Amino acid sequence: MSSNISLSRYLVEQQRSKGHIPADLRLLLEVVARACKSISHAVNKGALGGVLGSAESENVQGEVQKKLDIIANEVLLEANEWGGHLAAMASEEMDSIYLVPNRYPQGEYLLLFDPLDGSSNIDVNVSIGTIFSVLKKPEGNQGVTEQDFLQPGKQQVAAGYCIYGPQTTLVLTVGDGVAMFTLDREQGSFVLTQENVQVPADTKEFAINMSNMRHWADPVRKYIDECLQGKEGPRGKDFNMRWIASMVADVHRILTRGGVFMYPWDKREPHKAGKLRLMYEANPMSWLIEQAGGAATNGHTRILDLKPGQLHERVSVVLGSRNEVERITQYHAQI
Ligand code: AHG
Ligand code: MN
Ligand code: MN
Repeated sequence: MSSNISLSRYLVEQQRSKGHIPADLRLLLEVVARACKSISHAVNKGALGGVLGSAESENVQGEVQKKLDIIANEVLLEANEWGGHLAAMASEEMDSIYLVPNRYPQGEYLLLFDPLDGSSNIDVNVSIGTIFSVLKKPEGNQGVTEQDFLQPGKQQVAAGYCIYGPQTTLVLTVGDGVAMFTLDREQGSFVLTQENVQVPADTKEFAINMSNMRHWADPVRKYIDECLQGKEGPRGKDFNMRWIASMVADVHRILTRGGVFMYPWDKREPHKAGKLRLMYEANPMSWLIEQAGGAATNGHTRILDLKPGQLHERVSVVLGSRNEVERITQYHAQI
């Protein structure tokens, strides 16, 4: 479906007639979208823009940063710091929170992002993306501290991602379902191309990095083992597998045609809850999936109910088609 409804118009309608978002939040989301447009441009240029390859530095998680990780982070910081809507930002690529400089007015929102998700796919021309989450700054506090960010995902006021694939698509929720906007490069604007996105409750497709199988916990092993047995096994149907290694791309497929995505805790690094980060990967994606009728847990608990203990906290993730997520969560309770 194509429409003549731009992201700007969609947001104005969310503000005006639906009363879902205040003007400040609308403007903030416009700025995030503008930053994504600029990241999309850099991604598209690739080798021509000199943006591929490693930056030869490490982030706080001990991961080697790619040039585009750093470029995308800077684009988001620069686009968002002067608008007056934000109090502070936090990113996968920064050790601690970034306060809006004193020379700019302070707003009431907090923005978190994974500037470039799927870094291992940058240099091989496979879909990557930007994930973002918006929280309200707790009332009463004067300055902003990391503590102010540590709110459960159910308190998000907006969340989304922009996928840089064959098309650049911005996917957004402000708590009124999920809408998708495709970037029209000639017009330079995001155009509404799908509204009221729904994830089917059942699926025959799973996404997990199978190379970690020997490290999995028993409930994950049982679930995947049953899928692999196909028609002859207890599930009585054949399953298909996809793993893109960009969470944005795997979640985009699930929002489009269903499926289940898992990055569970495993025995490689038992002290870590998982690989993915709660506040700027799992929370925004979980809210989108729930808004589209799906479910998201850490194997035991709804992800959006988890109270973060720190900014870069990791979490085990199971999300997607509701009946499959419920089954995997039950296996965790039983085994
Ligand atoms: P990031 O590039 O932001 O560090 O995130 C990568 C994440 C996620 O997008 C993906 O699902 C997962 O890492 C892939 O991990 P493996 O390489 O272990 O499969
Ligand atoms: Mn990521
Ligand atoms: Mn990243």
